[in-house]
Amino acid sequence: MDVNKKAFLSALGVGAGVGAAAYLLARREAYNFRIDFLTIDKTRDAQAVLPTGLTRRKTLKILHISDLHLAGHEVKKKISFLDYITSQEYDLIFLTGDIFEHDEAVKYAPHLIARRPRLGAYAVLGNHDYYRYNMTNKILGRIYKPLRNPKDHARDEGPLVDALEHVGYRVLRNQVEHLEGESLSIVGVDFPGIEPERLSDLSATIPYGNLKLALLHMPVALDMYVKNEIDVVFGGHTHGGQVRIPGIGALITDSELAREHASGLFKREKTHFHISQGLGSDPKTNFRVFCPPHATVLEIEYEPVYATANFAAPAEKVGITN
Ligand SMILES: [Fe+2]
Repeated sequence: MDVNKKAFLSALGVGAGVGAAAYLLARREAYNFRIDFLTIDKTRDAQAVLPTGLTRRKTLKILHISDLHLAGHEVKKKISFLDYITSQEYDLIFLTGDIFEHDEAVKYAPHLIARRPRLGAYAVLGNHDYYRYNMTNKILGRIYKPLRNPKDHARDEGPLVDALEHVGYRVLRNQVEHLEGESLSIVGVDFPGIEPERLSDLSATIPYGNLKLALLHMPVALDMYVKNEIDVVFGGHTHGGQVRIPGIGALITDSELAREHASGLFKREKTHFHISQGLGSDPKTNFRVFCPPHATVLEIEYEPVYATANFAAPAEKVGITN
């Protein structure tokens, strides 16, 4: 064997070794679960319209989890993490889609809510809850949209919704829920999104002064939420980019988001957005680079705006005659 050929083969061997090690590290990072803690202050936004003396500061503690991509054969570490994180005390749990990758994974539903939060748990579905993906529609579908979600890849989402509701999640599908006495409303946006008119109609039903929260899977058409003055939007889908290069950031976000907003907290006008880094990914591409899986605990401080009518005592009880 000549010297050049020998050098080439040894370089090839080193390259393959480095590649295999990098791949194993990236697979390992996919199970390096983390918890983020964030605070959002909405009180300053409310003060401008608060009547003096009618303020009451409230704090909501919310667990935001997303993109679990549960297959039928989860590793113990992932299930243990879900058990641990959902067994803590919260006001709310939000789950923003891509929940069950395979139909048999519904058996893991009880691990998604080990302890019932004070005000309940809410979920929206993601694209992987509605469609099966192979490498053709997953990769080529990003380039040529008609290939992305073909009808013959559609799943029956009914059993997934049933499993979630059975364990205590309320699945919102372009619906809004008003939590009486909490000055709080939650809009849930179904995949693939919501018509602007429908979002405006839902927003119009929210009582004055309520904190407006919205859940969605895909971060698209986000200005719609700003326009409807939603206070905090919770989203997923991006996995934080899944592969991040130091100094560059996420390689792709598969949404309208810029690299720097592939996950985490950002604000447009008065609306905060929290995009989850997710806890899993499609098992076929379950690797992460500088982008470990995250669950997030957010505390939102806010001051409900009370209409004066809520405080008006009946005339006869305060001795007013005329
Ligand atoms: Fe996902």
